[in-house]
Amino acid sequence: MIDKAAWLEQMRQGWSQCHGCKLAPTRKNVVFGYGNPDAQILIIGEAPGKNEDLQGSPFVGEAGELLDKYLASTSVDPRLIEIVTEMGKSGDFNAREVREILLNYVFYTNVVACRPPENRDPARDEIAACRTRLLEIIYTIDPVVVLVVGRVSLEALLGKAAQITRDRGNVFDIEVPARPLSGLPARKIKYPCLAVLHPAYLMRINDFSQEDGMSDKTYFDILKGMRIVDEFNWHHFGIKQPKERPQEKKKK
Ligand code: URA
Repeated sequence: MIDKAAWLEQMRQGWSQCHGCKLAPTRKNVVFGYGNPDAQILIIGEAPGKNEDLQGSPFVGEAGELLDKYLASTSVDPRLIEIVTEMGKSGDFNAREVREILLNYVFYTNVVACRPPENRDPARDEIAACRTRLLEIIYTIDPVVVLVVGRVSLEALLGKAAQITRDRGNVFDIEVPARPLSGLPARKIKYPCLAVLHPAYLMRINDFSQEDGMSDKTYFDILKGMRIVDEFNWHHFGIKQPKERPQEKKKK
């Protein structure tokens, strides 16, 4: 049995001085990723922004808060259910508390670990330079589902052009070479990747009050990801699909 936490820590340290691409000179921190090493849900975003760069952790800004809101409202953790119920229509919640609970279930990372200047999209060569780190994270976490956040992340994982407003809510299998660092011959392992809209896009279009708007669609997309986890736990561990999980058809 590998000690995933120790392995991840070793990787984090290994990447902390990376100068593998042109993002290195302007970054403050390498934003490796964080969360539960045994998480069943792996979140892959695009790139660190200003806050992430300063704090060295992914999704710590406003977009991360919004993403957490969707994760919390589709969760079956009793503490999150209580927080979401109390939040009601006001939408106010204790972001730190929610993140702390979510870190039991989720691992967050990005396709590139360093902030692109002016928050531009990461370039193809930068994504390529960071790919080994991303693949190492995927096979170490060995998630049940990957939530791929935004177009840039989806294109990076698929290795081809994508259209996120068309592809969101769809599941794509990605193949990851198994444990290339172990010296064993590489095998391929498939992971289901569910594409979701980027929360920064949702903040820009601001359609939260619209039923069936992009915000609603994102809620159901993330719920679909949660269902993949439920089905896995049922098939592999005989754990019943939790009745607390919100219904797919009706949000309110
Ligand atoms: N923060 C991140 O870490 N990644 C994103 O894609 C957006 C915000």
